[in-house]
Amino acid sequence: MKNYNIAIDGPAGAGKSTIAKNIAQKLQFIYVDTGAMYRAMALFMLRQAIVTEDAGAVSRACNSVNIIIEYIGGEQQVILNGENVTALIRTEQIGKLASAVAKHNAVRTKMVELQKNIAASSNVIMDGRDIGTIVLPDADLKVYLTASTKERALRRFKELDGKGIFCNVKEIEQDIINRDRQDMTRETSPLKQAEDAVLVDSSNMTIDEVIDKIISLFKEKYNGDLL
Ligand code: DC
Repeated sequence: MKNYNIAIDGPAGAGKSTIAKNIAQKLQFIYVDTGAMYRAMALFMLRQAIVTEDAGAVSRACNSVNIIIEYIGGEQQVILNGENVTALIRTEQIGKLASAVAKHNAVRTKMVELQKNIAASSNVIMDGRDIGTIVLPDADLKVYLTASTKERALRRFKELDGKGIFCNVKEIEQDIINRDRQDMTRETSPLKQAEDAVLVDSSNMTIDEVIDKIISLFKEKYNGDLL
């Protein structure tokens, strides 16, 4: 039986994970958050005090890293060398470090193989930076989800503020600009819209509107086959 794959790429803070998770529930697909895998790798490098600019050291360290994805109650868990690190990788520090670690070939090769294997055996909606271009070039639907840097910074500010975390919206916007630059200009698999991806700019859309839009794009292609 055919597996269906949906690829969602886009810059940091565009709402990819919230939206992909929700669509996965609606379509009964597995949600794969590939950023979490790069974050787990970054946590490993941080703990080992490996300088992310040192390609040789990063490459050697990759041989000692085993990352596994598991699901508990439908929620993705990232297991780093036997330890569930899911709750430890959502910080800004790890996000920035993940972006720095992700430019190395050795890291990407390892992650892409793992991601392809997951998609080969299940219906998945996978989000990241290189899903439509490298990981799932034959995905049934590819979406490039973006929003203006101002809007992405404002969303992040509201999220942190809501948790009582002190932050500055200008600093958040600058971090987003820096991370975009790093992810879009790296040599290996930079973030870019796949030629056959549909561009969705969520700047002036609610989460529900984006979810409905992507589900209807999928239905337009596959209604009857699956839904
Ligand atoms: O989506 P995120 O913010 O959790 O991702 C963290 C970093 O990991 C991101 O800035 C770049 C890197 N990444 C990547 O290079 N390729 C992916 N498929 C997913 C994430």
